[in-house]
Amino acid sequence: MSDNSGYLPLPKSFITKAIHSSTDPDRWDSMCIVPPIVLSATFKHVSPGKFKYEYGRAGNPSRDVLEGSLCALEDAKYAVTFSSGLGALNAVINCYTQGDHFVVGDDMYGGNYRLFDKIAKNLGVDVTSVDTTIIDNIKSAMKPNTKLIFIETPTNPLMKVSDIKAIAEIAKNNHAIFCVDNSFLTPYFQRPLELGADITMYSLTKYMNGHADVIMGALVTNNKEMHDKLRFIQYGMGIIPGPFDCSLVTRGLKTLPLRLGRHMSNSLAVAKFLEAHPRVLKVTHPGLESHPQHALTKRQTSGHSGMMNMYIDGSKRESENFAKAIKVFTLAGSLGLCESLISIPSIMTHASIPEDVRKELNITDNLIRLSIGLEDPEDLISDLDQALKAM
Ligand SMILES: Cc1ncc(COP(=O)(O)O)c(C=O)c1O
Repeated sequence: MSDNSGYLPLPKSFITKAIHSSTDPDRWDSMCIVPPIVLSATFKHVSPGKFKYEYGRAGNPSRDVLEGSLCALEDAKYAVTFSSGLGALNAVINCYTQGDHFVVGDDMYGGNYRLFDKIAKNLGVDVTSVDTTIIDNIKSAMKPNTKLIFIETPTNPLMKVSDIKAIAEIAKNNHAIFCVDNSFLTPYFQRPLELGADITMYSLTKYMNGHADVIMGALVTNNKEMHDKLRFIQYGMGIIPGPFDCSLVTRGLKTLPLRLGRHMSNSLAVAKFLEAHPRVLKVTHPGLESHPQHALTKRQTSGHSGMMNMYIDGSKRESENFAKAIKVFTLAGSLGLCESLISIPSIMTHASIPEDVRKELNITDNLIRLSIGLEDPEDLISDLDQALKAM
C-alpha cells in the first residue's frame, strides 16, 4: 500500500474489486474461477437471428469480462475497449465531423498530438491547443461549435497537472464533451468521471495491464449517448482487441493497486534523490512540493504513479551518454511496466511533434522521462547516480 497522506483517500474497496470484478464462476458452465479465453471468431445462432454472441467483432465473452472489470473499477456504467490507446482516442475523434471544434492540451503524448494535428484536422475539425493548467486559456479558446475538450493530466512528458473539476464545469456550460486521458494514474489514483469528466480514456498498454505484453485502449463513461456512438465505432471501424489480450489485461488489473502503491513509493524516492543531484537541473514529479501543481495534485488525486522527468545538466550528447551508461533502467518508449525505463522524448516518444512546438514547450534534448518500475529503489538510485556521473 502507498502512503498517500495529504492526498484524497484511496477509493474504497478498490483492491477487493480489482481481484473479484472478473471472477464469476456461476457464469460459466465449467464454474471456472479464472474466466476462459474464448477464441471463437463466430458463434452459433440458437435460431436464425437469435444468438448470445454473433461475431467476434461485435462481441466476445473475454472482452465482456474485461469491460465489466473496467466499469467496476471506475464505478461507471459503460466501458468500450479498443485495439490500442490511439484506437480509443480515434473513436472519440470519429464521433465528430467537419465544422466541429476541439480544445486540447498543448502537451501530450506524440501519438495523441498526431491524431489531433493530422487525422482530426483532415476530417475538417478545427483544433485549438492551449496550456490547460491555466483555466482562462480554456475559457477563451471555447467557441460556439466547440464539441470536445481533451486533456492528459498529468501530461506526457512534462507532467503538467490540470484542474479536472474546473474544466468539467466549462465543458458543461458549453455543452461540450470532456475526455481525460488517465493512462498515467489509472482509476486507483485519479477518478475523472467523479470529478465531472464525461469520458476517461486509457492506454491499457501502460499501468492497467502493467506488464508491457499487450497493446490496448479503453474508454469509460456514464454517458449513454456517447457510449452508443463509441460502441458503434468500435464495431463499425473494427478497432477491437483480441480475446487473448483481453484476458492478459484482466489478469493485470488484479494487481493494479499493489503495483501502483510500489510505483508511487519508488518514484518519490528516486525524485527526491535526483532533486538533490548536482548533475540534475530540475525534477518534475507531482508528488514533490516543488511541482507547480502539487497542491492541486493532492486535491484531485489519491497518489502518483512512477512517471516523472528530469532535465540533466547537459545537452543531446550528455543525454545520449547517460542513456548508454544506465544498467538497471532500459532505454525504451512506453511506460507503466514492472521494469524501469528512461526515454529521451525529443528523439523518441515525441519526435512526431514539430521541433518549434517542442522548443516552445521545453521538450528539449536534455529532458529525460523516467518510468519508475517495481525494482528495489536503492538499485534504481545507484544506477541513476553512476549514469549521471558517467555522462
Ligand atoms: C498518455 C498516453 N496516452 C495514449 C497513448 C497511446 O496508447 P497506445 O500506445 O496504447 O496506443 C500513450 C502511449 O504512450 C500515452 O502515453
